[in-house]
Amino acid sequence: MAKRARLVAGNWKMHGSRAANEALLAAVIAGVRELADVECVVCPPFPYLSQTAGLLAGSRVAWGAQNVSEYASGAYTGEVSAAMLLEFGCRYAIVGHSERRASFGETDAQVAAKFAAACRAGLVPILCVGESLTEREAGRTEDVIGRQLDAVLDASGPASLAQAVLAYEPVWAIGTGRNASPEQAQQVHAFLRARVALREGSVAARLRILYGGSVKAANAAALFAMPDVDGGLIGGASLVADDFVTICGAARSNP
Ligand code: PGA
Repeated sequence: MAKRARLVAGNWKMHGSRAANEALLAAVIAGVRELADVECVVCPPFPYLSQTAGLLAGSRVAWGAQNVSEYASGAYTGEVSAAMLLEFGCRYAIVGHSERRASFGETDAQVAAKFAAACRAGLVPILCVGESLTEREAGRTEDVIGRQLDAVLDASGPASLAQAVLAYEPVWAIGTGRNASPEQAQQVHAFLRARVALREGSVAARLRILYGGSVKAANAAALFAMPDVDGGLIGGASLVADDFVTICGAARSNP
């Protein structure tokens, strides 16, 4: 089986301040210094990216954006392009987070266009897919996340996933304190990997699939022990340095 480097990304959502970021990042940098086999990433709000880039310089923590425009440039007020992010050192961009799909009306097609724009510029998209509670209870989990994934596969091709990260984030688990069980996560991750393998087996074997949704210091190790869970996308717990560092530690291949 292909060995996949573990990755833990913090999605700060719309939280932070210059002072809070400084303290949080200093503690995270110090806390993950020895975790050589885990890639650690933080995704602050846009205005703090430059501050974050400066504070993280020379550390082993990378940074990413929480969103990216599907357009390259032009009359798109309020948008930020992938090339702009790349210009000052951004590596990752979250695309298709369920909050953007639900609160800002992002469609599968738009998410696929954002994914393509991130790839074109050389960013690593973190593509989020996930079902709502109603969809899960109706037995539609695989239909929904299969559709969300296929939109990207159809638009960009399976090879594009070689430079991307996938994140399974069940909507019912985000910010609710109710995480998917390790077995539930594993089942969906295996489904996603098999879906990619239908198009391109070698890409599927190497693809990192993160789990997100109420990952905490206390449940991270059990989730990351699953064979198809390659790390996590962390919301609330990424704002608490000790918790985020513990979660990164739980992602070590041999903890
Ligand atoms: P949570 O959020 O860890 O607070 O549930 C995860 C996410 O939305 O990425």
